[in-house]
Amino acid sequence: METKIIKIDENEVTSDKLEEAGKIIRDGGLVAFATETVYGLGADALNKEASKKIYKAKGRPSDNPLIVHIADKSALSELASSIDDKTNMLAEAFWPGPLTMIVNKSSIVPYSITGGLETVAIRMPNHKVALELIKASKRYIAAPSANTSGRPSTTKAEHVIEDLNGKIDMIIDSGAVKIGLESTIIDMTSKIPTILRPGYITKEAIEDVIGEVLIDKAITEGGMLSKDVVPKAPGMKYRHYAPKAMLTIVEGDEDKVLKYIEEKVNEHKKAGENVAVMATDETLCKYSCDNVFSVGKRKEQTSIATHLFAQLRDFDEMNMEYIYSESFSRENIGQAIMNRLMKAAGGNIVKL
Ligand code: TXA
Ligand code: MG
Repeated sequence: METKIIKIDENEVTSDKLEEAGKIIRDGGLVAFATETVYGLGADALNKEASKKIYKAKGRPSDNPLIVHIADKSALSELASSIDDKTNMLAEAFWPGPLTMIVNKSSIVPYSITGGLETVAIRMPNHKVALELIKASKRYIAAPSANTSGRPSTTKAEHVIEDLNGKIDMIIDSGAVKIGLESTIIDMTSKIPTILRPGYITKEAIEDVIGEVLIDKAITEGGMLSKDVVPKAPGMKYRHYAPKAMLTIVEGDEDKVLKYIEEKVNEHKKAGENVAVMATDETLCKYSCDNVFSVGKRKEQTSIATHLFAQLRDFDEMNMEYIYSESFSRENIGQAIMNRLMKAAGGNIVKL
């Protein structure tokens, strides 16, 4: 299949620019588009055949449900069988924005996009292209992250092209996304609302609006699951975000971390292996080895979030076999950063 690639800047979006893309969705095709978090791979959410194409293009297991994207808060009442006050309060507080809520599904939502579950994930993205595309399609748009299943999510159109060119109908290039990590997912159907995936919107920010919130055990275990913990978000059980290289996170006092990483780098080099280091602006110049890259500023956590997936993809491009990464703060969005990094590392962390 030939994939049509068009460019639409978020600041110059008009509804007529999205007419063709909207028609593709309406006709059951696939369109990749930017959101504020990561790029999404969209299809008509209520069309079973269309959503099947998403799973095929991504190579995604069919028990892993999709998020339904809406352009108007009122759509919630059509897609959910019932909505409680807390759900409405969170929609008011954070939509459009990087928060996905799990609610009981109404009968119009097909099981093909919920992985057979009675619940559905819903989000109103905060990106003009995404919102205009949903409106132009006159549909709700089911969209997972627009990457090949298992690879890091896509934060630039180039990444989407790398993974999905020739497999989908259209890619809308709107440049780099703002946040860089996927939305926070909260299950509103459990007695106490429970965060299933950490993201830009933190537990504290949600608690300010609705009071007590829990964090799924699968997350608090540090990103990797012990055998007896089954994550409530099916997607969280799969190996994810993984670069081709073996990634090791090194945590501890800065001096010890630097020394450990440099020793490892030297060992790999002696063995003739490709090795790189993921550092930060603050630590970059302290290494005496080469192939050291900064993923962002420790002082500015959002810069790390924005560049994390892109940096992991760059290491693939460079054919790295081993990557050593510094560890990051788990405060605020740091929880989401460390959750993705731990998954990318398959739980491989050295604590000094
Ligand atoms: O920021 C985002 O959320 C991006 C953009 C494109 O909106 N989308 C995204 O979708 O990250 P995806 O498919 O890569 O991740 C969706 C996650 C998966 O872990 C899935 O298992 C979980 O949401 N999920 C979806 N529906 C669910 C449900 N009914 N119950 C529990 N988890 C659900
Ligand atoms: Mg994903």
